[in-house]
This record gives sequence, C-alpha cells and structure tokens, in this order.
Amino acid sequence: MNQNKQHTRRQILEATLALGGSLVLGACARSQTGGPHPQPSGKWIEPPNQRPLIAQPSVSASAPVASPYARQSVCPVTAPNIEGPFYKPNAPLKQKLNTGETGRGLVVRGTVMDAKCRPIGGATLDIWQANADGAYDNAGYELRGRVQTDAEGNYAFHTIHPGHYLNGSQYRPAHIHVKLSAPGKRLLTTQLYFPGDPYNEIDPFIDKSLIMQLETEYYGPELARYDFALV
Ligand SMILES: [Fe+2]
Repeated sequence: MNQNKQHTRRQILEATLALGGSLVLGACARSQTGGPHPQPSGKWIEPPNQRPLIAQPSVSASAPVASPYARQSVCPVTAPNIEGPFYKPNAPLKQKLNTGETGRGLVVRGTVMDAKCRPIGGATLDIWQANADGAYDNAGYELRGRVQTDAEGNYAFHTIHPGHYLNGSQYRPAHIHVKLSAPGKRLLTTQLYFPGDPYNEIDPFIDKSLIMQLETEYYGPELARYDFALV
C-alpha cells in the first residue's frame, strides 16, 4: 500500500466517523482483496462475491466533512433536471430509503446552501429512485423518502445504487431524483448521477454538473457527496 493510498483512506475514515466507521472499514478491507483479478488466460474476471462485507451503516444527519464551498462566498446554483414520470408526493420522512430492496449500499450526503454559500437548515429533499433492476415502486414508497437538513445545512440518506432502465430504445444512466425545497427558495427538481456510469456519455438528459463525488474506492458500499445551492 503506498503512502498516497494510505493517506486517502485515512482521510475517508476521518470523514465518515459519523457514519459509524464501518462503511469505510468495510470498503478498505474490501479493497485489499477486491477488484478484478487477472487470470492465467489473461482475462479479467470480477471477484465472486460482490455483496458488501459489512452490514449497512447507520446514517448520521450530519455530514462531517465541510463542504468545499464552505469558505467561498459564491456557490454555483444547482442545475435543474427533468422530473420524469415516476414522482409520488407525500413520501415518508426517513433516512434509509430501502426497507426491502437490496443492492450495493449507498450513502449520499452533502450540504444545502444558498448562492452565497450560506447553509440552509430545514430544507427538504424529496427523493425517489429505481431499484437495482431499474424499476420504480409506483404502488408504495420503497426507495422513496424525504430527508431534512440540520441547522448546518447538512443532509444524509442511505439507499442502494439504482439500476439502469430503458427510456425508449436507450438506457438511462443510474440516477437519483430529488425535489429540494426550502422556505423562501425556489423549488428545485433535479437528478443526481454517478461518475463513470457508461450511459453518462450518451444520455440526452444528463447535466454533468449533477454528477456526485464518490468518496469510496473499488467494491463495497458507496459513499457519495453532493452539495446543492438554491436561489
Ligand atoms: Fe428516473
């Protein structure tokens, strides 16, 4: 393990103590043995067990890492994105969106600010997404929920990595829908995307400014960050 990688993992560990630490420890443990393995034939195969090594972590309402915008006075206003046909109002307040669906664990966290980078407490994120097979729960509220920011504007929620689904003849990249509201601010309807998704380059709807920052490596649960700015 080189020094840079040790440094990166230590930073991630420190950054995620509020998540119970187990997520990062699991991710680091996974990276020791995970990842594609070269075979004698020269072909690369995926490791046999893609399931996370550890239980899903509990989610703290606070995001322990300060936003990179925290010391700035101008924050780029978050871009809107299409709502799509699957929004359902009145989703329950919950930080863990999946109660039955399984898949690659994912924690998304970040800060909601105004255009001058001042945190907005009490903002509401109304979230909905597809399951690992790309299907939405249109009968109930699985993988749907609302979370609120704390006094420092921080939010966090736990879910699973959404799957791709066909839109016409083309798959959409994995994404998470969000309606973000706050007193005195304009309602923002948008989507969050994942770096490296193979459909990011061909999707006609994606806005690259909406791609989250992934803070984990290799396999295991993902930890992603996205900071919003509202007007
Ligand atoms: Fe969608």
